[in-house]
Amino acid sequence: MKKLALITGSKGGIGSAISSQLVNDGYRVIATYFTGKHQCAQDWFNAKGFTDDQVRLFELDVTNTEQCAQRLAELLQEEGTVDVVVNNAGITRDGTFKKMTASAWKDVIETNLNSVFNVTQPLFAAMCEKGDGRVINISSVNGIKGQFGQTNYSAAKAGMIGFSKALAAEGARSGVTVNVVAPGYTGTPMVEEMKPEVLESIKAQIPMRRLATPEEVAKSVAFLVSDAGAYITGETLSVNGGLHMH
Ligand code: CAA
Repeated sequence: MKKLALITGSKGGIGSAISSQLVNDGYRVIATYFTGKHQCAQDWFNAKGFTDDQVRLFELDVTNTEQCAQRLAELLQEEGTVDVVVNNAGITRDGTFKKMTASAWKDVIETNLNSVFNVTQPLFAAMCEKGDGRVINISSVNGIKGQFGQTNYSAAKAGMIGFSKALAAEGARSGVTVNVVAPGYTGTPMVEEMKPEVLESIKAQIPMRRLATPEEVAKSVAFLVSDAGAYITGETLSVNGGLHMH
């Protein structure tokens, strides 16, 4: 019986790489997609050449607490278990704080941080009952060091780290580990949206002088969810090319 891994934001740059990696590692992936985006998700599924045995597309608005509670309870009923949760869905609404609108603040906190509650809460008790489970939260170097123009994003990504340490303390006795992967600047549409001159100046500060690949981030997730990661919990694994060492 394949283990089941639920991945939010699964068709984004990093989410897509994590999905492929875990499929290759023998997991069945529940790939969540945003309300109304079924066709996009189906196109992604087809382009990746997945089969129904490997990936199940699952509509979920990660910002909607009630919908997540209901849909994920149904998922547990249908599938019997969810072994791995990867909270990966995230957005940016960059801007200096003086110019930041309340909606740019709220959208990022809702999507990047409140989603972690919405998605993990309905699944965590079942993992504890089973005595086995993995939660991985995809944070960011910018949640650790803070980034000019990202008060909202840095706050949300830092929040994920505090959340993970607290939940790790709660899950440990039940065999449920909770860890963070904190990518640096990665070759994804999110980073490619940045102004080229800003991105160039950031690249120049990365000791490795290049972006991470999504596959490099995905391999860290694969390690933490594997048997090799069984005794690691409450930890943050940075994958940032040396951009920030702490
Ligand atoms: N530190 C200090 N000052 C800085 C600075 C920095 N890092 N960056 C810019 N400034 C200064 C500028 O020199 C400028 O000063 P003057 O007014 O004296 O010339 C002033 O701040 C305004 O800068 P901008 O021209 O950049 O302002 P803007 O309003 O056009 O743009 C911004 C603001 C959109 C936030 C832009 O600075 C930006 O894109 N910054 C990078 C944000 C970033 O790193 N986003 C990451 C997105 S990808 C991601 O988030 C994935 C991940 O996890 C890594």
